Amino acid sequence: MFIALERLLNLEEGYRQVFQVQGRSLLLLVVEGRTLLLENRCPHQGTPLHNATLTAGVLRCARHGIEFELASGRALNAQCPGLAYLPLAYEADRVGIDL
Ligand code: FES
Repeated sequence: MFIALERLLNLEEGYRQVFQVQGRSLLLLVVEGRTLLLENRCPHQGTPLHNATLTAGVLRCARHGIEFELASGRALNAQCPGLAYLPLAYEADRVGIDL
């Protein structure tokens, strides 16, 4: 089942939006021309990531400062699991997820 999240024409550089889908909080981002969808919770202790700072492709969680490389999802400055990405799906003029 396709669940639409956003219209493609709204996906501009710097886009950042949280969606609640079936009890999960998801974060949709556009960074360096790539559209990314990830769980909106830090893999460290679950802090929401929508207020994380983003610099040069690195997402820094506001709570304890762990930095995640967006290209790979891995933590750069701590022993910590990586970001949990979800595959994107496209239908007509929308981006979303297949559940
Ligand atoms: S909860 Fe994100 S760095 Fe600790």
